[in-house]
Amino acid sequence: MMQDTFPILGVDHVRFYVNNARQSAYFYHHMLGFDISGFSGLETGNKTEAEFLLQQNGLNFVFSAPIVPDHPIGHLIGKHGDFVRDIAFSVEDVEWSFNTAVERGAKPCMEPFTLEDENGKVEIAAIHTYGDTLHSFINRSGYAGVWQPGFVARDIPGSSIGVYEVDHCVGNVELGEMDTWVKWYEDVLGFKLFLSFDDKDISTEYTALMSKVMASGNSRIKFPINEPAEGRKKSQIDEYLEFFGGAGVQHVALRTDDICMTVGEMRKRGIDFLYVPKTYYDELPERVGEIDEDVEELAKLGVLVDRDDEGYLLQLFTKPITDRPTLFYEIIERHGAKGFGKGNFKALFESIEREQEIRGTL
Ligand code: FE2
Repeated sequence: MMQDTFPILGVDHVRFYVNNARQSAYFYHHMLGFDISGFSGLETGNKTEAEFLLQQNGLNFVFSAPIVPDHPIGHLIGKHGDFVRDIAFSVEDVEWSFNTAVERGAKPCMEPFTLEDENGKVEIAAIHTYGDTLHSFINRSGYAGVWQPGFVARDIPGSSIGVYEVDHCVGNVELGEMDTWVKWYEDVLGFKLFLSFDDKDISTEYTALMSKVMASGNSRIKFPINEPAEGRKKSQIDEYLEFFGGAGVQHVALRTDDICMTVGEMRKRGIDFLYVPKTYYDELPERVGEIDEDVEELAKLGVLVDRDDEGYLLQLFTKPITDRPTLFYEIIERHGAKGFGKGNFKALFESIEREQEIRGTL
């Protein structure tokens, strides 16, 4: 067992900065089945932001929006559009985590502080990672109220689509910056290189990218980091960097144990997925061998399959859920496989390129 030099219990929450948290909350509630379970805003004494807490099977998403002019969140979304601001880690010792990360070279964002009310306390600190993205360190084990002091309960149950955990979270960084951030995750957070893909793995006639997957000491958290590679035309990573205005989170992959139900529900509710050509399924049985699922049903839903030494996985990608071609979701079901669907890359990228062509950004 390798030594874990930076203990992280898991992803505590994903925080989004958005223009209108109320409307984002309803999108995630209706389209992705989250419960709307907490709120902070004018009515609770928060004079500058509106915040909604959405939950589903242990997943916590928080949406924060500015409600006054010239708010710092407003400036950031002016640049990026709605975006993932923070992938927050649950830790036992917030102060140790923050101090250690900063000693190891992280740029501090928020010094450790404690929020307290009659329900207990929550400890928080935050560091910067790539672009305008943060990693907060949170300990809410001493808190019995709704989320954190300043929040009140909202009880609007969603109709779950079966997702329950962040499988991985992908960052896009600028050309030449991938190894800088690989080293940052190694040095600062004690992550290890888990997998890497070069442009020979991930290239099509037109575009290419490189990717290295970093995993936390306990392997519970995986962060692939992408950078564009030279291709004949503009890669999907270049397109992202241009529209986003720099490095940022490209997709969040959510785990399910029943991808056919999850994808079927999402399609019914109006989520668009990348198109998978019917021909993909002709070669499927030969490529992946025996699987539990019915290939015809997978084909109907457009679900992708890949196999590695340890098993297989099922996955599918939404189209961007923001107006800008930036943030999208992956739905993933693992049957032993620990990879990321390398065998699907080519089919996928050709599908993304079809979308880029329609957007006129290829
Ligand atoms: Fe992914």
